[in-house]
Amino acid sequence: MKVLMLNGSPHANGNTALALVEMEKIFRAEGIETQILQVGNQDIRGCMACYACLQTGKCVFDDLVNEAASAFASCDGLVAASPVYYASANATLIAFLDRLFYSTRFDKTMKVGAAVAVARRGGLSATFDELNKYFTISGMPVASSQYWNSVHGMNPGEAAGDAEGLQTMRVLARNMSFLMKSIALGKEAYGLPEKEQKTGTNFIR
Ligand SMILES: Cc1cc2nc3c(=O)[nH]c(=O)nc-3n(C[C@H](O)[C@H](O)[C@H](O)COP(=O)(O)O)c2cc1C
Repeated sequence: MKVLMLNGSPHANGNTALALVEMEKIFRAEGIETQILQVGNQDIRGCMACYACLQTGKCVFDDLVNEAASAFASCDGLVAASPVYYASANATLIAFLDRLFYSTRFDKTMKVGAAVAVARRGGLSATFDELNKYFTISGMPVASSQYWNSVHGMNPGEAAGDAEGLQTMRVLARNMSFLMKSIALGKEAYGLPEKEQKTGTNFIR
């Protein structure tokens, strides 16, 4: 069982990293393998809507997005964590997620998702909602905690003082572990939900 954790911050050792490491301790205690992928410090361009991926199953820009695809395909859970920039996720992480989710053709159904937002003061729940959108269009159940998944801090390391935020991360990781293990059992017992041929109407008559 494995969780892929995306750090959307340009700082590999900043506050977003602290939130992820707090979750990672719990995953390890639960016997779950983890991989933290540093996304926010990479040069990742946005999607150019060429739709080539619909034929090839991968992005025309051969960068971290394509490298991460196999880790995403094989994981049981995905954590997307971002610092808040202007009440939104870091643009680099959004470019990465747009291209990763759009270009990959494998079934994401029942991989568990968790969004984490990190900020000095405001825009956390807007960022949390923004990140959850990737999971909820993909048949991915969303893990939650005792508060909307957020941690406060400004300068790198300050989040260590946010006792409630870090507890929220630990509880989130425990809940996510429980969900992933329960889904694994459910898959064995019942299989994945039946699929329908997808209908796309694009609001055109
Ligand atoms: C361009 C930019 C925009 C920011 N916008 C916000 C914001 O809207 N709300 C907020 O509370 N903090 C904001 N911050 C502060 C960061 O979210 C905060 O420093 C966070 O802890 C950074 O996480 P990191 O250490 O993982 O990079 C902003 C920082 C930058 C660089």
